[in-house]
Parts: sequence; structure tokens; C-alpha cells
Amino acid sequence: MPTLEGKKKAKKGNITMINEGKMRNALCGDLRLKDEGREVRLAGWLVTKRNLGGILFLDIRDRSGICQIRFDDPSLCPEVHNEYLLSIEGTVEKKPVANKKLESGEVEVKAISCSVISKSEQPPFIIADETDALEETRLKYRYLDLRRPILAKRLRTRAKICRAAREYLEENAFLEVETPCLNLATPEGARDYLVPSRTKQGRFYALPQSPQLFKQLLMVGGIERYYQIARCFRDEDLRADRQPEFTQIDVECSFLSQDEILELGEGLVRKIFLDAEGIELPAFERMAYWDAMDFYGSDKPDLRYELKMSVLDDIVPLSSFPGAKDGSFVRALKVDGYAEKASRKKLDALQLEARKNGLEGPLFLFKEEGGELLGSGLKFLSEEGKALLVKRLAPKDGDAIFLLLSNNRRKADFALGSIRIMIARELGLTNGKPHKALWVVDFPMFTYDEEEGRYVAEHHPFTRPRDEDLGYLDSDPSKVLAYAYDVVIDGYEAGGGTLRIYDPILQDKIFRLMGLSEEEVRSRFGWFVDAFKYAAPPHGGFALGLDRLSMLVTHTENIRDVIAFPKNLLAVDPMSGAPGDASEKALEDLSIAVVKKD
Ligand code: AMO
Repeated sequence: MPTLEGKKKAKKGNITMINEGKMRNALCGDLRLKDEGREVRLAGWLVTKRNLGGILFLDIRDRSGICQIRFDDPSLCPEVHNEYLLSIEGTVEKKPVANKKLESGEVEVKAISCSVISKSEQPPFIIADETDALEETRLKYRYLDLRRPILAKRLRTRAKICRAAREYLEENAFLEVETPCLNLATPEGARDYLVPSRTKQGRFYALPQSPQLFKQLLMVGGIERYYQIARCFRDEDLRADRQPEFTQIDVECSFLSQDEILELGEGLVRKIFLDAEGIELPAFERMAYWDAMDFYGSDKPDLRYELKMSVLDDIVPLSSFPGAKDGSFVRALKVDGYAEKASRKKLDALQLEARKNGLEGPLFLFKEEGGELLGSGLKFLSEEGKALLVKRLAPKDGDAIFLLLSNNRRKADFALGSIRIMIARELGLTNGKPHKALWVVDFPMFTYDEEEGRYVAEHHPFTRPRDEDLGYLDSDPSKVLAYAYDVVIDGYEAGGGTLRIYDPILQDKIFRLMGLSEEEVRSRFGWFVDAFKYAAPPHGGFALGLDRLSMLVTHTENIRDVIAFPKNLLAVDPMSGAPGDASEKALEDLSIAVVKKD
């Protein structure tokens, strides 16, 4: 009998069996035609049971996949129910008709014995890739959900991404270093998760939103090239691509320029897609932040489809748009052949989307058969305005044009950008399209916070302004662009980074510009800025979102699909119920009293 027992390593199908032990000598999903005649001992959970004309068929599943077992004599099979764990011995035989749905579908195992290893209660949902079970139920019983082959496959892909990243970074002389989780709060922007200290009563650690400050200090410490697959914690509103705890492939290096870091990061992302998905990504385009905003309405443009917006600010003097003034921003989107598809209902939905982004509109124009422009936007355009629009957008018969106006550039960009995305979804423009990755570069250094009446850092206050923009720090900080970059894939921000300030004088200047006094800086991150008095090297880095990369590689839009034990949208773990109450004793030790509202 060809057995794997005693062999160190043997590649069989998808999974390498290493010292599997004596309970079995093969994996269900790995059986192939070449195994015909082989005597196998399998262990697997019962997926289905069918009795066809006196012959009993079972499908059983282990971590490699599913295979079919055939009992010519059904009395050899004890009483079994779904999800019972069975031990089966038998011979691999060629199936008369292959089952194309199973990877092992060309063969089946003719059973000679079957015993129950472990019984199961009736599971709360049917464990299969295609399921209509509520996600909350699946998360409550995640250990059962993980038996679905698709989930296990995604976890394997996620592990491949980690392996690819480690290989690439090790080859490039990066050192894996762990950084602490119990920290002083860092200035990343989201709310911190706090951990009370017992030894310093009334004080709190903050869990890291990222290892940002520590990786910079590793550079001051002369480590030069650092990486870590780092767990990060952010208490922010959750979405389909956000978790309160998530993982970054975190990188920092000294003595490299922005171009060199982008090249390195691009190499890493490309290796990840090659190793984990078998896909060779084309070279990454680089796009300036304001181009991404003005022409794609997003700082994370999805370039799998074109549907480019136009800047039509110069139409303002030729129009009477409500609310328009000198310097208003007008964005236009032409959608080929959309006029006949734009039902009242769809247009209402687009109006609503614009309103969600704080804008009225969009205004619609259609090019009718015969060349006339029609639609709600027409009445606001002078003849010259119409002529400009036609010249710039060159609409053909049947095209639709959407126009949006705002006195705030970002608002105009974002609002039309989200309409662009809605239309692309409706038209299925991303369906079957290959991945498209790019670098968005030249982010503004600051945004002006109207409420607080001061400039705040767009990334974090340690981001380095571009050398050529340093002059604007005194004259017009809003014009300062930074050495800051995001890697964007299929409309997702898959990662981001910056070059850092290493000159303490420049750093002080930035803090002052942000309205932070010397005392505030001292009390919040004095411990960090002090390090820069000791000849810090020029340095920079980036972090890739491991969860988001896993989503992209496995083609899911739900971040919870690529995390073994995720939280739900309320940051609750439906399985354990975390967060939970603390015991009286624990609270007493911490000198904490819980005041419950209502
Ligand atoms: P940033 O905050 O842009 O940069 O984060 C880097 C990447 O982490 C991922 N990410 C998330 N993934 C899932 N859930 C979340 N809540 C979440 N938040 C962020 C994204 C994002 O691009 N320290 C800097 C990096 C640097 O400058 O080197 C940082 O954390 O994919």
C-alpha cells in the first residue's frame, strides 16, 4: 500500500502532508485519478448522505476539501448524521462519471469500514460554501463556519500573503522586529483602545493604532530596515473594509528616497499577488492626489474602468447654477449611452447619493437623438455655457452628462466620484476586470479644520513636506504637498506611507503651524521627538493592510471573510460576546468604578 506514514514530506494535491500521524494516510480533497487502487484511511466530517438504489454515498470533508465515499454494502456504515466525524478505510476507484464540482471528483473511495470518531449535535446552519445562513449566526458559530472550504481556502491564501511578504522583505535585508502593544497614545487620528494600568492607578495604556512611532525609533536606533506583521487597533466606525483590530505588513527603512521606497513597495505588492493569486500585476501608474480627486472623485480611484470626470470650473461665469460664486468648482461626468438607461428611479437614487455627500444635484443633461441637449441642468446654462460643455465633453447622441457644483473642491470631487462608482456598479464595469494598482502621491500636508480653526496633519505630524514646497509653510500651508503615498488597488486603499521629518527644527515648525504649543508637544510626544536630537537618519516607510490585500486576492468585499475570528459592525465578537463585564475584583484592583448610563 502506498502510504505516507513515516515519510517526512510528500506533496499530494493541494496540501503537503507532513507527519500526519497514524489516524489517516490521505486527505479527502487531494485524491486524484493517479491514486486509483490506493488503500486509504481518511478522517472527515460528514457533509451529505444519499442512498441510491441500495448503494450508500457519503461526502466527507477535511481541511483539504471533500471526497465521495461509496458503500456497496450500506450495513458497513454505522448510524451517522451531518457533521459527525468519521474514520473511513477503503480503496480509491475511478468514478464512472466525474463530479466536476469536486476537485477530487474523478474518483471515489469504496469503503470497507467506517467508524464514528466524534458525534455532532445538529449544526445551526448547513455547512457549505453556498449558504444563506445569517452572517451573525455564522460568526456566533465561527468554528463551524470555518469548516466551509471557502473560508479555509481564504485563510490559506492569507497565510500565503504573509509568507510572500516575509520572503521578499528578508531577501531585501529587512529585519523582523516586534514592537510593544501597551503604549502611550499615538497621534494617528482614530480613537484609542485603552487598557487600565493596575500598577499606576488611574493611568491607561493605549493599544497601538500602528507601530508608527516605534518603527521610526528603530531607525534612530540604527536598525535601518524593519518590518513586522503587526496587529493594530482603532476604535472607529466600522465598514465592510474596516475592523477594530486588523493587521498591517509594516515597513520602515533609512537612506531611501520616496521613489526608491515606492519601487520597493511595488515589488512587495507584486510578489504578493504573484505568490498568492498567481497574477502578474502590471507596473503601477503614479497619480497626483489632486488628479485622482478631480478626475476620479476619490483619493483611491478604481482604474479598472475609465469613466473619467471633467473639470469645468470655467463654466461658472457662463451659467446661473444655484449657489455658484466666483471660484466655485464644477465637475462633470459623461456616461456613454446612459440616457435611455437613466430612469426616474435611478436619477432619484443618484440625487440621494449626492445629498449624502452634502450636495444638491446632480444636474442631468442628455444628448437626444438629433443632437439636442435636454435635461434639468439646461436652464442654468447660457448659450456660451452650452457651447463650452459640448466642446469639452463632446457628447454623442444618447449620452448622459451629470454636473455637480460646490464651493469646496473636495466636496465637488467626492460627490461626483461616488456617483461615478454607483454608475460603474450598475453597468457592471468592474466585472471580470483584472486588478489595477496605482500609487497616489503628493497628498496635501495639511487640511484646514474649520471647527477647530487650525491646520491638522492629513497623515500624521511627522510626515515630511516636499522640499520644493517648504516655502509655502510660511505663506500658504494649504499649498504644501507631502512625501506621502497610498497604494490603491481596485478602488481600495491597500496601503500607505510617508517619508518622515528627521530635522527637529522643521518638526517644531510643523507643530507650531498646527497650533500645538511646546508644552502640548512635550506632554504628548516629548519622549518621541527627543530622539531626533541625536542625529536621526532620513527615513520613511509604509504599511500594507493585510486584511484588505487578502480581500483583493480572494475577491471578497467583506473583510470578515478573510479573518478567522472577526468582530461584527458593532465591534462585538458574536461568538464569545466580547466585550464583557469586568469582575468587581478586577475593577477594584484597577480602582475603576463603572458608571452605567440609563
Ligand atoms: P494607515 O493608517 O494608512 O497608515 O494604515 C495603513 C493601511 O492599513 C489598512 N487599514 C485598515 N484595515 C482594516 N481595518 C482598519 N480599520 C484599517 N485601518 C487601516 C489600510 C491602510 O492603507 N503608520 C502608517 C503607515 C506609515 O506611514 O508607514 C499607517 O498606519 O489598508
